[in-house]
Amino acid sequence: MAKITLNTLKKHRTDATRFSMVTAYDACFASVASDSGIDSILVGDSLGMVLQGHASTLPVTVSDIAYHTACVAAASPDCLIVSDVPFMASATTQDAVETARALMQAGAHVVKVEGGRNLVDLVKLYRDQGVPTCCHLGLTPQFVHQFGGYRVQGRTDEAAKRLLDAAASLDQAGADLLLLECVPNQVTEAIMEATSVPVIGIGAGPSTTGQVLVMHDLLGITPGKPARFVKNFMQDASSIQQAFEDFDRAVKQGVFPSPEHCFEQ
Ligand code: KIV
Repeated sequence: MAKITLNTLKKHRTDATRFSMVTAYDACFASVASDSGIDSILVGDSLGMVLQGHASTLPVTVSDIAYHTACVAAASPDCLIVSDVPFMASATTQDAVETARALMQAGAHVVKVEGGRNLVDLVKLYRDQGVPTCCHLGLTPQFVHQFGGYRVQGRTDEAAKRLLDAAASLDQAGADLLLLECVPNQVTEAIMEATSVPVIGIGAGPSTTGQVLVMHDLLGITPGKPARFVKNFMQDASSIQQAFEDFDRAVKQGVFPSPEHCFEQ
């Protein structure tokens, strides 16, 4: 498979076709993801929960993400590598610059930042320095305490309007990708209308350009009750590679997510 770049993902948006993304945190799973046809790997701060056993993503550090990004990049996957900017690691301009330097030098192609309209200046700063950005909106897990839990976002007209305004402003500011987590399908559809960059969804309905799942959820090994938007692709697969391939195919054929994985307003 040819190396996937941001241009590949942007072409999916233009052509109205879909792409797949999974989280991975090491060389072995990065190779399997790449061999399965997955387009993008997210070195997510979800590693704080699924690898480190924390109750949230807040304890994850820049060194943690840089270490796992380097592990993924060492496998030279064909996938585009997106790495998370951890909690408070872009709070000042100096922090933001140092964080992006550490992640890009570890092998990230894009950095992902959580927030809303407040990310406009950060996106411009990164764009001017040659750092592509993915802006994560909706249920942003780094804001879990402000939200009072992991809750669907954008349910009221006012909250939906705020999300729409944030997405359009970030697109205009030069964000390369948007990622929407746990928002009703109708809000995602409005954001797709108002933006032109590729939009990745997780619990955001079927209308996005890409779909992402945390690898451990996709493989059915996350302890506890899975979130509504999760599908266990290991259930009908005989290998991890097959589970990744089935996810990739289901996304590209538009059969995942189905209504049982989605939220209505
Ligand atoms: O950290 C992560 O894995 C994420 C996904 C849930 C999108 O942000």
